[in-house]
Amino acid sequence: MTTASTARLIAALCTLTLLWEPALALAQDSLQPLGWDDQIRLPEAVDQNADPHIVEVALEARLATVTIAPGVEVEAWTYNGTIPGPLIRAQVGDRVIVHYTNNLPRPSTVHWHGLRVPIEMDGVPGYSQPPVEVGDAFTYDFIVPDAGIFWYHPHVMSAAQVGFGLYGAFVVEDPEEDLGIADELVIVLSDIDADDDGELRSPDTGGSLGMVFGREGNHVLVNGRQHPTLAARAGAPQRWRIVNAAKSRYFMLDLGAGHVFRKIGGDGGLTEYSEDHDFLVLGAGERADVLVTPAAEPGESLMLRSVLHDRGFGSTEYRDVEDLVAITMADMPPYDAGPLPDTRREIVPYSAEGATAVALTLTLVQDPRDRSFEYRINDRPGWNATPVPASPGEVQLWTVENTTKWSHPLHLHGFFFLVLDENDEPVRPLEWKDTVDIPFERTRRLLVRFDDRPGTWIFHCHILDHAEGGMLSAVQLGLPLSEFTPLADH
Ligand code: C2O
Ligand code: CU
Ligand code: CU
Repeated sequence: MTTASTARLIAALCTLTLLWEPALALAQDSLQPLGWDDQIRLPEAVDQNADPHIVEVALEARLATVTIAPGVEVEAWTYNGTIPGPLIRAQVGDRVIVHYTNNLPRPSTVHWHGLRVPIEMDGVPGYSQPPVEVGDAFTYDFIVPDAGIFWYHPHVMSAAQVGFGLYGAFVVEDPEEDLGIADELVIVLSDIDADDDGELRSPDTGGSLGMVFGREGNHVLVNGRQHPTLAARAGAPQRWRIVNAAKSRYFMLDLGAGHVFRKIGGDGGLTEYSEDHDFLVLGAGERADVLVTPAAEPGESLMLRSVLHDRGFGSTEYRDVEDLVAITMADMPPYDAGPLPDTRREIVPYSAEGATAVALTLTLVQDPRDRSFEYRINDRPGWNATPVPASPGEVQLWTVENTTKWSHPLHLHGFFFLVLDENDEPVRPLEWKDTVDIPFERTRRLLVRFDDRPGTWIFHCHILDHAEGGMLSAVQLGLPLSEFTPLADH
């Protein structure tokens, strides 16, 4: 390099430093020890588009050997070779283009769970698109209208394919939101069922009874790892965006005595106001956005655990608490961050007045001939469903009665809803939900408003074995009921 060009370079660097300094002072610097999240940081999808408002990524579904713990390998089904697949990050209002290729041994699709996309992009075979055949490609292209934590997964043989490892997180950021917390993690909770040789077990274990309970994998994973470790500086706050991507398992998170989860957001972005919780329950498909402040003596560790949550008959007997993440305090003086920030967001609830009443009853029936079980919504399994008619702009009040002995995290595609409490009022703090737990032998009411995206939008239990076992139906929005055909495969 010549002296002149060196001088120019130095001058340029100085200008850059000058330009950057104010920005650096505004952006928050990490308070955590170096490499604190090395064991669990998710790979991120690479944006190949120079336009700052377009995120363009490649997603290849294929088999790959993944390491879930030191020396423990599993032959999984993956996006881009990892479980979870790459984290997709966009800003609210961005256009997202995903070049998807299916190199799995089976047809598949990608569904964007919680994102309000056009029906053609919803990934449900038959209603949105034909399944993407082996070796074929499909381009997903949509705008992301809401900030929040979302996720993606297939919608063909979903119980099997999600269970085999096909899922990834999708975070939509709001550039205007500034909580002053630099240290963020996206945490995908899941499990996988594999034998000692790392071979995936059959997705049909336990037959009809396995379906009734909902099959849980024998390895619990945090960002694709068993029992990863996180280093932390005591007293320094962290923001965790958590997705439950397991196909059946609920997580009831506990950070131990003296620790709370400050819940600031849920499925569809920030809640009305933040609220502290000792435990955080996430049914399959649900998400939470929380602030935590790990605190212990330097060198000690905390354990993020999943404690026993009663999701129905057989869910707490002979079971243990699961250790998820060991959080080791670095040898640094505790940080004094002061109180965690309170967050607020204005959410205008829909009014239940004049809403169309829709009654949905969840049942389990047994065939007397072969003793096999079937879940039903309004006495019909998914393959014989009667859809709920709806028109654009219509507000509906859904009364969902769960008569079965198991809880069901019910998920509606394409729309958010509010959950009502016992007094006909929306549950406070208000939260936009797309997946809600309907506890066993209980009834919950939801308020939903359909917008102008005509199509067949399915809803189903996100215990994917239950969906496959019949607990699936659809909203026929702005389309004649006579045009509805039940779904054969999802
Ligand atoms: Cu996570 Cu049918 O969806
Ligand atoms: Cu969905
Ligand atoms: Cu269910």
